Amino acid sequence: MVYDIVLDPNPILHQRAAEVDPAGITGREMQKFFKDMVETMYVKDGVGLAAVQIGVSKQVCTIVKTHNALNRHEDLVLVNPRWEKLDRHEEWDEEGCLSVPGMFGKIKRYTKIKVQALDKQGQPLQFVAENFFAKIVQHECDHLQGHLYVEKAKDLHRAEQAKPDSKYPRE
Ligand code: NI
Repeated sequence: MVYDIVLDPNPILHQRAAEVDPAGITGREMQKFFKDMVETMYVKDGVGLAAVQIGVSKQVCTIVKTHNALNRHEDLVLVNPRWEKLDRHEEWDEEGCLSVPGMFGKIKRYTKIKVQALDKQGQPLQFVAENFFAKIVQHECDHLQGHLYVEKAKDLHRAEQAKPDSKYPRE
């Protein structure tokens, strides 16, 4: 099932999402929800998606396999994700967001972070993410804390719809 994308200024995008009870992760309902999120992410042409962007206040996000540096054969599902920086180095780069259609802007992100989450089977997952992968994780975790990149972006501008090979990916 493909969900509609919730657009700014919908209040759900500005609230912290609810933590997921680990006991329910392997249940049929959650598993279906993960599948629907991944399907929605592809249909809407995003490189990542947070559950709040489809109107569901749950700490779940997905990242497309082409940007999943952990395992390029699988779309990544992160439940209750947290991250911390491993390096003070930050980099400015262009970002877009499915919930703020047509806009792009520059934002500063850490280039190396440690991520902790539960995977789609409810198992603890810990990994280091760098560069673009790290930026997507930070963008999606911001969503789950109720923040949009436009709150701290500079050079916000309109642009044509992102193409699949665009240098302007949307998350
Ligand atoms: Ni976004």
